[in-house]
Amino acid sequence: MQLTGLLSGEQDAIANAANTAALLYHFLPEVNWVGFYFLKGSELVLGPFQGKPACARIPLGKGVCGTAGERLESTLVPDVSAFPGHIVCDAGSRSELVVPLVKHGALWGVLDLDSPALGRFDEADRAGCEALARVYIESFKL
Ligand code: SME
Repeated sequence: MQLTGLLSGEQDAIANAANTAALLYHFLPEVNWVGFYFLKGSELVLGPFQGKPACARIPLGKGVCGTAGERLESTLVPDVSAFPGHIVCDAGSRSELVVPLVKHGALWGVLDLDSPALGRFDEADRAGCEALARVYIESFKL
């Protein structure tokens, strides 16, 4: 409800991604990075985020983000050191949740949340972040 209110009245995809990242980063406990990657060609390119500087480009199929994007499935990683191909951006990240963003049936990008705590995200977080991703994706027109 907070995100719906925050994004209402604005239809710019970048502005709404920036406010979504800021809301989640500041109001969810135990997260050290929250942000967006947008699909450009066959790569995910860094979008608005909160946290330490991150890798600018992730090929589709690589890392947690590229895997979630390629499979079109939200991906919950309780321990990033156990995920083959995990891309280290902030060495403080121990667990991660990535939700693909689908607009008009096509991959638009991903929403990525990192935590310094092992096993930070559970199925309730997955469902909640999928719902938040839908609020974001429906907030703008193409
Ligand atoms: N760990 C991610 C890279 C992005 S950062 O966490 C911000 C991955 O493996 O895709």
